[in-house]
Amino acid sequence: MNNFKLARDGLYIWMEKQRKPKEISDIMWVEKYRPTRLDQIINQKEIVKGLENLLKKPNELPHLLFTGSAGTGKTTTALCLARKILGENWKRDTLELNASDERGIKMVRERVKEFASIMKLSINQDTDDKPFKIILLDEADEMTSEAQTALRRIIEDSSKTTRFIFICNYLSHIIEPIQSRCVIFRFSRVSEDEIVEYLKNICKSEGVKVEENALHKIYEHTNGDLRYSINILQAAAASGNVNVQQVQSAIGISGRSKIAEIVNLAINSKFNESRIKLLELLNVYGVSETDFLRYANEEIYKLELENPFEVSTIIAEYDYRLANGAHPEIQLAAFLAQLGKLNLKNNKKSI
Ligand SMILES: Nc1ncnc2c1ncn2[C@@H]1O[C@H](COP(=O)(O)OP(=O)(O)OP(=O)(O)O)[C@@H](O)[C@H]1O
Ligand SMILES: [Mg+2]
Repeated sequence: MNNFKLARDGLYIWMEKQRKPKEISDIMWVEKYRPTRLDQIINQKEIVKGLENLLKKPNELPHLLFTGSAGTGKTTTALCLARKILGENWKRDTLELNASDERGIKMVRERVKEFASIMKLSINQDTDDKPFKIILLDEADEMTSEAQTALRRIIEDSSKTTRFIFICNYLSHIIEPIQSRCVIFRFSRVSEDEIVEYLKNICKSEGVKVEENALHKIYEHTNGDLRYSINILQAAAASGNVNVQQVQSAIGISGRSKIAEIVNLAINSKFNESRIKLLELLNVYGVSETDFLRYANEEIYKLELENPFEVSTIIAEYDYRLANGAHPEIQLAAFLAQLGKLNLKNNKKSI
């Protein structure tokens, strides 16, 4: 009987282990290989040096603003910095907000203000030896300018107890008064050598055989976006060793090339097909609406149109609508319909 019980309990324990979901950091290489220390950040040497200098006097750390293109290490650097300043309880003492999820004035008032004032209390009570708490506002360029304006006041009110790190892709979307309250760091696209080296190291630790050409092919496609490069590498490695052919098919199924397909369908007035693929991209592949518009913009310019003014105006208009919180699926479908109306297929430059 006892033996039976042991075997049964053993089985339950085994089943429990099997059922335990894998952590996202085990599954996705971008998370698994996300640096946790500043000295592991690649390609941004000047920035890391500058930050380490500022950290020599942590009490005097200014507010920071990280700007630059996607997948270059902005969020990662901010998280490394929070870890370094706040130590083991860094998560408790950091408010990480993704501004584009909760756009607008409400988010600013409620979440930021609440966190900043709670922290003020705990610091006043001398319960903490850390110099301040950190509010990390990712994708701050997606915030409305009203929300940014409201932040000015909050930054000032809470600056004794709180440091802000703003992160954005487009510095021009951040209002001047916020820019002037921060030290600005510009992140550059990761160089080809650094990307290839980084991907090689991942392959080494994953025990994946890789052809060097394949890594250069990845760079050609991703143009200095390390996140996208790692994602393509992982997709290519899913079928075994990584060679140029596998990279090409991984690129073929990636979200960005689907955007090119959607744009082409829309331009050729195949509205229904393009809309269905758009919905699939947003809901299945999880591409964000602003990324969609950003990459659609790039794809349209690759077409080298004779007269790109009209299409620029349309993109700008939909970008504005999304920034103001209009319903993304409705807006993007309308955007595709507009593309179809423009008769762009007969508008290509004759070379
Ligand atoms: N400079 C870097 N050094 C090391 N790893 C990096 C670097 N840049 C990006 N990565 C890798 O890419 C992933 C995404 O990086 P991160 O989130 O920091 O990009 P980002 O600049 O914030 O991009 P976005 O503008 O799209 O938010 C990280 O998890 C990490 O694996
Ligand atoms: Mg980021």
